[in-house]
Amino acid sequence: MLPSLSDVPVVPPGREAPDAYAISAEFYDILQADLDRARVRRFYGRAVRGARRGVLDVGAGTGRVTFMCLARSRAPVFAVEPTRCMRSLLMTRLAALPVDVRTRVTVYPYRLDEAALREVADVGICHNTVACLRPTARRALWPAVADALVPGGVFLVQLPPERLPDGEATHVLPAQTMGRHEYGGRMVMSADADRIRTRFDYWVRGESGVLRAYTETFWMWPASRAEVLGELAQCGFVPLPERADPAVLAVRLGRR
Ligand SMILES: C[S@@+](CC[C@H](N)C(=O)[O-])C[C@H]1O[C@@H](n2cnc3c(N)ncnc32)[C@H](O)[C@@H]1O
Repeated sequence: MLPSLSDVPVVPPGREAPDAYAISAEFYDILQADLDRARVRRFYGRAVRGARRGVLDVGAGTGRVTFMCLARSRAPVFAVEPTRCMRSLLMTRLAALPVDVRTRVTVYPYRLDEAALREVADVGICHNTVACLRPTARRALWPAVADALVPGGVFLVQLPPERLPDGEATHVLPAQTMGRHEYGGRMVMSADADRIRTRFDYWVRGESGVLRAYTETFWMWPASRAEVLGELAQCGFVPLPERADPAVLAVRLGRR
């Protein structure tokens, strides 16, 4: 039976914040998926295989980690993604899965600290997300991660850059062909006071030259491993042995 509309909290569209990824969403998978898919398997694959209670994906985006979790574990997956355009891509990809796989994944359209998840997972992952949070938002995330994990649960987080860049650093996103078009992009990082300005330039080329070009700027906040570890320790997390890849911090939630 359909719920009556008076039972459903309805968010008027005007109240939603503008999508931070409005431009990048179109280019995210075509330009970054291949490299990142391998990285996600390397960073988190082993932990995910050991999950029994559930896997929490904080900042699921278009589903890079979510899909790896569904493939590598039989446990339920909790994908938390507040931004509508990224979540739309995630939903479309999930909708194409066989029903028996789809029943294992739940999508939460909120920030983790708004999602009220309690002890749903024994493995939590936060990939390529924390760097984009202001320090206050980052610190608000950790108690919500602790709430969402069972005692003893493992949390793996990709660390922000340790420090501000010197000068300007450009990272080219390898061009990809789709039909008659070539998609390309680059990320340009530079320091701005205590933040990192991260500008993404995208373009689409056809036979006649550039057909479309866009720019979208994000901000990142650097934080050291020790700083993040200290924040997590205040929420009951203890460090696990350092991993082969220093980009990822692994902690375990102590008994509460
Ligand atoms: C750069 S994207 C990375 C997405 C995905 N993890 C990946 O690596 O492909 C960061 C995502 O985190 C989401 N996000 C930002 N703040 C969040 C929060 N407090 N809780 C959960 N997700 C958040 C954003 O909406 C965005 O989709």
